[in-house]
Amino acid sequence: MKFFLENSDVHSQARAGRIETAHGSIQTPIFMPVGTAGTVKAVHQRELRDDIKAQIILGNTYHLYLRPGLDIIQQAGGLHRFNGWEYPILTDSGGYQVYSLAGTGRKINDKGVEFKSHIDGSLHTFTPEGVMDIQRLIGADIIMAFDECTPYPCDYTYARTSMELTHRWLQRCCTRFDTTEGLYGYEQSLFPIVQGSVYKDLRQKSAETIASFGREGNAIGGLSVGEPAEIMYELTETVCAILPHDKPRYLMGVGTPANILECISLGVDMFDCVMPTRNARNGMLFTTEGILNIRNEKWRDDFSPIDESLGGYVSSVYSKAYLRHLIKSNEMLGAQIASVHNLTFYLWLVAEARQKIITGEFRAWKEAMVKKVMQRL
Ligand code: GUN
Repeated sequence: MKFFLENSDVHSQARAGRIETAHGSIQTPIFMPVGTAGTVKAVHQRELRDDIKAQIILGNTYHLYLRPGLDIIQQAGGLHRFNGWEYPILTDSGGYQVYSLAGTGRKINDKGVEFKSHIDGSLHTFTPEGVMDIQRLIGADIIMAFDECTPYPCDYTYARTSMELTHRWLQRCCTRFDTTEGLYGYEQSLFPIVQGSVYKDLRQKSAETIASFGREGNAIGGLSVGEPAEIMYELTETVCAILPHDKPRYLMGVGTPANILECISLGVDMFDCVMPTRNARNGMLFTTEGILNIRNEKWRDDFSPIDESLGGYVSSVYSKAYLRHLIKSNEMLGAQIASVHNLTFYLWLVAEARQKIITGEFRAWKEAMVKKVMQRL
């Protein structure tokens, strides 16, 4: 993997860059649609590429390991072959899912995490070494270190102990990753993850430690877990000032359109979040004019396009009234149209941000856009 920094904004820390992977290039800043179980829910691969203009999608180690299972993915020749997405893929390590999904049954110690499957209650163990092997087998272009994502709130002592564990696990991840090879003949890259909860000194320490490993890109985890947005911005700013300038920075699990714009301006290059797809299925739409709930009576006889100025196939062809009818009737096409629309908007937003960084208009555009995207229609 290679990262090329192409433009830097003079009024903020925002950057425009390009990541080259074995499955093609990614223009940053970028939003990565979440495809937990090897599918971006309700969206097929051709729409992802042709309509939404997605450049990279996410998969989850935890889910794919449990179902369909590693034997099937290996027999398929890796995740790209299995799901027919021939462009870049990033897999999360399970560090987050083990905590959020496996819930109460998990046991964590230095060796790793023992957890119960959310599907059938069976017992499994993830170790840093095991998670590297699994992600080698899944075959994503970018794979994530095994970490502990601390909840919010989290007391200082727990946050420090957990961060130190994440750092020890990182050393083991790197050792395993550097002494193994991909199964399918192309290069993979490992990104470590900064933790430290809401404590500035821990975040600084974690960012310094993570930077010292000198990997090809770096991630920031443990944010957007319930803390106020201002705290997330402050910590993101602190961490970005320490993480190397010449490597991509990935803020995990963030966020709303406004969060993404603010964090681009703090120097983040990559984002992922379930929000555009999950909220779409509930009828919440993100548009260039603001946020709307398509289930609202207000849209019953509004035959205007979902988002006229966004363009894109579904957003300009289907009306609000029709989408409202589909979502209210629980029709599958409703979830599909809403998901394609929201992802088209998210990918438009980051592409537009990139253009504005290149032309030097980013700061003014961002200020106006943040106000617009937060409006309730
Ligand atoms: N996704 C969102 N936050 C996190 C995190 O802290 N760690 C991991 N592994 N994934 C995440």
